[in-house]
Amino acid sequence: MTILLTGATGFMGRRIVDELLLAGEPVRALTRTPATAGLPDGVELFAGDLGQPETIRDALRSVDRMYLVPAAPETSEEVVALARAAGVRRMVVLSGAAADDDAWGARGYLAVERAAERSGLEWTHVRPGEFAGNWLGWAPSVRAERLVRRPYGNAVTQPVHESDVAAVIAATLIREGHAGVTYTFAGPEALTTVEQVGLIGAALGEEVRFEEDDPVQAREQWIRDGYPAVFVDWMFEVWARSAREPAPVNEEWAAVVPRLTGRPARTFAQWAVDHAASFR
Ligand SMILES: NC(=O)c1ccc[n+]([C@@H]2O[C@H](COP(=O)([O-])OP(=O)(O)OC[C@H]3O[C@@H](n4cnc5c(N)ncnc54)[C@H](OP(=O)(O)O)[C@@H]3O)[C@@H](O)[C@H]2O)c1
Repeated sequence: MTILLTGATGFMGRRIVDELLLAGEPVRALTRTPATAGLPDGVELFAGDLGQPETIRDALRSVDRMYLVPAAPETSEEVVALARAAGVRRMVVLSGAAADDDAWGARGYLAVERAAERSGLEWTHVRPGEFAGNWLGWAPSVRAERLVRRPYGNAVTQPVHESDVAAVIAATLIREGHAGVTYTFAGPEALTTVEQVGLIGAALGEEVRFEEDDPVQAREQWIRDGYPAVFVDWMFEVWARSAREPAPVNEEWAAVVPRLTGRPARTFAQWAVDHAASFR
């Protein structure tokens, strides 16, 4: 029996592949484009599209555990039904800490979570908060000008290292005791954007400047860059609120990574060191 990873070629998925291979688990990956998947040796590749559930039938043979990305919420009921019929017994869903937020996050995440819950499979929902990895988006301006330009420099977030998210997902796939549980979690520290930029500078050993962007202009730019307006408005409101009323670390969320992985969560300073080459 093997583990099927959907989204295995993604930013998160590749890290889950590494975690599972390190643990000696058999890994099968579903991708729409096997030719360009670029996954490590030892990973079994299957072509399939979650948006066209019939195409994943072959990939489901001899699978007992499955990781489901919320890439195709509209077909998630059919996907989990096929999985169940094929003999899958455990389904781990990647969702997000914003899943219950009516403004935006609820749409896709909740549809996939509900499908897993209704399926009769052992389900686990993994709801991480903001990935530290989102800030690789700052790399071009840091490389070019040692500068980050963004609105809400005083916004406070609790970023989680993507490798910790992958380790949590791997733990729920490999070990027993996670059925019927929703893990909402985040990183170990509450940091302002300005502090996060400072830690990237520390990892480089050079100053990285922060320049506060005007929120109205930034909103227009984000929408021009392709982000849906409803998402941008939600995100900016979250940042504005956290800048007005900075919250301390959510200790309950911070406790999840150490509890599931058996080691301390990686700090943002560690994340910046891990990605220094991208910023240099
Ligand atoms: N960024 C954050 O702060 C944050 C926080 C919480 C949750 N999340 C959630 O985390 C997820 C992102 O995971 P990621 O970073 O690994 O994704 P990613 O880098 O954007 O990659 C998307 C993955 O989904 C697969 N995929 C997309 N459409 C598909 C389809 N129709 N059929 C089969 N596979 C499909 C792609 O596979 P192929 O292209 O190979 O087919 C690829 O592996 C998102 O759902 C996001 O909402 C993000």
